[in-house]
Amino acid sequence: MESFRALRVHQEDGKIVPRLEQLTLDDLAPGNVVIRGEYSSINYKDALATTGKGRILRRFPLVAGVDIAGTVVSSEDPRLKPGDLVAAHGCGMSETHDGGFAEYARVPADWVNKLPPGIDARTAMGLGTAGFTAALAIHRMEQMGQEPGMGPVAVTGATGGVGSVAIALLAGLGFKVTAVTSKTTADDYLKGLGASEIFHLKGRELGTKPLEKVLWGGAVDNLGGATLAWLTRTVAPYGSIASIGLAQGPELNTTVMPFILRGVSLLGINSVEVPLGLRAEIWRHLAGDLKPTNLGLIATREVTLDQVLEVVDGWVDGSITGRCLVRLR
Ligand SMILES: NC(=O)c1ccc[n+]([C@@H]2O[C@H](COP(=O)([O-])OP(=O)(O)OC[C@H]3O[C@@H](n4cnc5c(N)ncnc54)[C@H](OP(=O)(O)O)[C@@H]3O)[C@@H](O)[C@H]2O)c1
Repeated sequence: MESFRALRVHQEDGKIVPRLEQLTLDDLAPGNVVIRGEYSSINYKDALATTGKGRILRRFPLVAGVDIAGTVVSSEDPRLKPGDLVAAHGCGMSETHDGGFAEYARVPADWVNKLPPGIDARTAMGLGTAGFTAALAIHRMEQMGQEPGMGPVAVTGATGGVGSVAIALLAGLGFKVTAVTSKTTADDYLKGLGASEIFHLKGRELGTKPLEKVLWGGAVDNLGGATLAWLTRTVAPYGSIASIGLAQGPELNTTVMPFILRGVSLLGINSVEVPLGLRAEIWRHLAGDLKPTNLGLIATREVTLDQVLEVVDGWVDGSITGRCLVRLR
């Protein structure tokens, strides 16, 4: 196979230096499945990895990108055959293993999911890690008994990738959704996704009591920090909060009161290390009962591999809205 393009991150004199390079398969970390990538996507974590604003990569040099979807070219595993349409995301990609910002990826078969009928590579990456994570969070909340009758679900970081897909999926399931956002210009976008209310975070007094007035039946949180603490104080009895992200900060200052007096559950969501069977189940949901009808409103941007570095700052400063696909060829 001839050489191919990849966005590879180096560490030089203690600095993170990303470069578009020509690689061969021999340059990639070992794996028993080779994927010809069609699409990847940009997630918050990819912006941290390629700008060096967060310590994501644990070895260098490494191809960045936590997502890839495309076609199997070769496989030493009988579960996967050349021509299969697949997605790989999370696992060690862009942490310890070369990732998805490349025309080819080579990964272990256990990281690869065949895409269910109805989901092509572009749709899969319109969802990407963000959409998969939103679906995993909702799946876990429903397992805990979350249902529309308990009240609206608050979604923080609402205009981001995870937040946008979470709103669309929850609304599709019949939940009332309150989009919690720091942006003042995104109301139409959020309502278009299915949010029934918008809660503007900026300048809001979030209170300090161990328990505040109940505002939500449950919550999907992408921010952590003071916002997550506030959610613990305002979720209804037996509601669940899916803790996904830390865009605001990693700390959580709350008390046990919401947990022992309201029976609130804090569900940790980790999309990186998900057993293959559960990953397949989540993808089946995304192709079936959870299939978003308005992904076209969310994944409106598309860049090529050589444009990724021009746009990633928007994820670091929180100014982006929705999802951005990366066309790999
Ligand atoms: N646990 C997991 O497996 C997993 C998987 C995927 C993502 N994540 C994490 O989940 C979070 C969201 O990921 P994403 O891909 O959706 O990111 P994203 O597309 O960059 O969206 C993040 C959103 O959070 C808000 N935000 C950003 N910076 C902020 C700040 N400093 N203070 C307050 N709000 C801020 C913004 O929304 P508004 O302007 O609308 O408020 C922004 O659009 C990230 O922390 C990411 O690392 C975790």
